[in-house]
Amino acid sequence: MAENIAKSKPAWLEEAVFYEIYPQSYYDTNGDGIGDLPGIISKLDYIQSLGITGLWINPCFVSPFQDAGYDVADYYQVAPRYGTNDDLKRLFSEALQRGIRVLLDLVPGHTSIDHPWFKESCRPERNKYSDYYIWTDSVWKWEIPGYKVVSGFSQRNACYITNFFYSQPALNYGFACPDPNQPWQQPVDAAGPQQVRGELKNIMRYWLEMGASGFRVDMAGSLVKADPGLRETSKLWREIREWLDVEFPGACIISEWGNPSQAISAGFHMDFTLPFGMPGYTALLRKHYDAGPGSDPYGFSFFEAVGHGNILEFLDNYLYHYSLTQGKGLIAIPTGNHDINPRLSMGRSVNEIELIFLFLLSMPGVPFIYYGDEIGMRSFGNLPSKEGGYNRTGARTPMQWSNEMNAGFSTAENNKLYLPIDPDPHKPNVEQQENDPHSLLHRVQKLMAIRKAHPALQASARFEVLFAEAGRYPFVYKRSVDDEEILIALNPASSAVQAEIEVRAGNLPRTIYGPDGIFTLHNNHLKISMPGISGGIYQLKEA
Ligand code: GLC
Ligand code: CA
Repeated sequence: MAENIAKSKPAWLEEAVFYEIYPQSYYDTNGDGIGDLPGIISKLDYIQSLGITGLWINPCFVSPFQDAGYDVADYYQVAPRYGTNDDLKRLFSEALQRGIRVLLDLVPGHTSIDHPWFKESCRPERNKYSDYYIWTDSVWKWEIPGYKVVSGFSQRNACYITNFFYSQPALNYGFACPDPNQPWQQPVDAAGPQQVRGELKNIMRYWLEMGASGFRVDMAGSLVKADPGLRETSKLWREIREWLDVEFPGACIISEWGNPSQAISAGFHMDFTLPFGMPGYTALLRKHYDAGPGSDPYGFSFFEAVGHGNILEFLDNYLYHYSLTQGKGLIAIPTGNHDINPRLSMGRSVNEIELIFLFLLSMPGVPFIYYGDEIGMRSFGNLPSKEGGYNRTGARTPMQWSNEMNAGFSTAENNKLYLPIDPDPHKPNVEQQENDPHSLLHRVQKLMAIRKAHPALQASARFEVLFAEAGRYPFVYKRSVDDEEILIALNPASSAVQAEIEVRAGNLPRTIYGPDGIFTLHNNHLKISMPGISGGIYQLKEA
């Protein structure tokens, strides 16, 4: 099994760099204040100019939007506010013409309370949908350790289990170890759970046939309940993956699981490093700000100019997963996402942000860029919650395109906008950065082009740490494939640093990106002297 999986990885993932679009906030073409699918289509040239080869679009289906669309009411229909199914089909084909593949966001674990399946399931009479969700056997049985339940919602004399908010009832994939004293807990192979599994495949098939290239799978590890080691959940996904490999071999699935070694052995092509599950992500990029700007109960992340971070807090965790997944699947490190507030740019200069892109775009696996991070858009700590965003809302504001009204996002009146535009008159925007050769956008474009030009920098090329010590800077690593070897050196700290590493090269590395003259050679040892806040990509050996 594991071998088949490795062999069938879609080849296009090797060079892929993804871009996450929160559709509400990207570009509004009809002046209603909400981004839409025609808006994404009209920005495809921009996305292509960045060097992006894959899109992940947050759920764009019919929904009451009590959790920004992660509460689906019809898996087969685009939400009218975003356009039509034909618009989505057009997006798939227009993107593909530009070498860009589109992943939809699949929410398999729960629906909205507005979903017709749930409405039927709520009825007291038994019907086809009674077992589509997880219901206890009495409305009074509302203390179920380990689960969140809602009681008294409908005429059915039972409580339903939720996966997230009260409005997101859990679909019934069964229990790996049903409690014999709780007969309402059904085994995985019961009729209801098996029907739900069938529905999942139908949904996937529908969009893949229409031209989607795969899915980002929401809360992928949450499906089967009471599942120690997530063994039954993993089996379920392996079944899906085997089916995909036969019916849609070019399609890709990436999980929101936060445990790459587990998710990849469950059949996913890729899994995300996330603030939960993998403690390394926060230690790399977000630690200091977890407790709010200015406070320091958690210490510092590695990419901070004060230089108090510890790369090993990320690396030990990363290498654990990397060694277990090498050759089987890929780890995706995102710049951020719609759940992570603050954004990457918070408290960082353009030079500091550039170093993070340099890192992400030279690591193994597949980088994901959250819309707006490529221009250093900032986030907000104090926006009123929108559509179940709560503290996440401030990282979901409209994309900034130009100096025009509403930053070029929409022609709607200010108070009709999905979320307010950054009020700062000096806020970054795409147009201004396209015209400035020193802008973050240009630097990101250049780094993207370098990754594309060098197979040694791409998804499955080898990765070897050359210098990484607790509490010290820089961080130096090597990427290689066949005969090509590339060295990456990063010093996010503001003071100059030195390091010595052993390499077999007889001559000095050639600069691909970043400062020259940082190397000296002493019999087989490379000495690296780096200025504060600097980083570069260097050729050790040409292919
Ligand atoms: C995932 C999504 C998040 C959503 C939740 C429930 O974590 O990224 O935005 O609220 O699942 O579906
Ligand atoms: Ca619109």
